[in-house]
Amino acid sequence: MNSPIIETIQLSYDYSLDGEKEIRALDNLSLKICEGEYLCLIGPNGSGKSTLARHLNALLLPAAGDVYVDGLLTALEENRWEIRRRVGLVFQNPDNQIVATTVEEDVAFGLENLGIAPPIILQRVAEALELVGLKSLAQHAPHLLSGGQKQRLAIAGVLAMRPRCLVLDEPTAMLDPRGRREVLATIRMLNRQERVTVVHITHFMEETLEADRIIVLDRGRIACSGSPAEIFSGKLDLEALGMDMPPIPALAMALREGGLAVPQGILHVDQLVEFLC
Ligand SMILES: Nc1ncnc2c1ncn2[C@@H]1O[C@H](COP(=O)(O)OP(=O)(O)OP(=O)(O)O)[C@@H](O)[C@H]1O
Ligand SMILES: [Mg+2]
Repeated sequence: MNSPIIETIQLSYDYSLDGEKEIRALDNLSLKICEGEYLCLIGPNGSGKSTLARHLNALLLPAAGDVYVDGLLTALEENRWEIRRRVGLVFQNPDNQIVATTVEEDVAFGLENLGIAPPIILQRVAEALELVGLKSLAQHAPHLLSGGQKQRLAIAGVLAMRPRCLVLDEPTAMLDPRGRREVLATIRMLNRQERVTVVHITHFMEETLEADRIIVLDRGRIACSGSPAEIFSGKLDLEALGMDMPPIPALAMALREGGLAVPQGILHVDQLVEFLC
């Protein structure tokens, strides 16, 4: 396994309600994320996924425990800019992440804020738009883009900073099926081709099937983790954790229960078709 790019050590975090009562959102959570890994984080509403995501680029700081990014401790103020450059965060609603009047300017925005020289900005913007497949729309107004294009624009804005890790918090939640496919393909390509480490939070179980590892959070703790084949083998009680099986592993399990010798580890339609035909 590659060396960890992010490590949380006994990380706990509390939100305070009305300045008095505290809610424990992360509870003593230790986790290593490896360089180049595609990690999916799943878990029911309120299990702490977004709170964890915000700790991975120092938007939130631990109440107890430590978070290291590339060996840099997030709690140290002098590390924060470098950490935010190395770990890019993409949120659910692309409209909230768009700031400029053209696609190109939007991608350039973060770089301009960093005071990077204009020729380098131009080069990085072109590179990022090429990667997410929006080069031909560089002069377009962002609000005229489709949902999937807007989310790919948000990803380009983060990519222009050349991060080593992308943390995406339900990036497809507001998209139609086509937009979801576009964004998923972009995330996978960045991981496989560009070797960007990916932490992908989602409620769509079928989006996790290509991950190297899935971590299930429950009440601020890691309930279980494993490969997609392990998590969706039918041996874990996902329902008790408020989640369900993706359609193909669910069908494979139903066929197995019906007496057919369907092998373990079937995740995709073509694997099931190959077995059945
Ligand atoms: N700003 C906040 N103030 C108070 N409590 C909060 C705040 N944000 C989150 N919480 C609480 O912290 C816990 C973890 O929330 P978090 O948003 O991290 O969960 P999540 O797994 O991302 O949920 P979802 O699937 O709904 O996005 C929940 O109990 C939630 O109610
Ligand atoms: Mg969330």
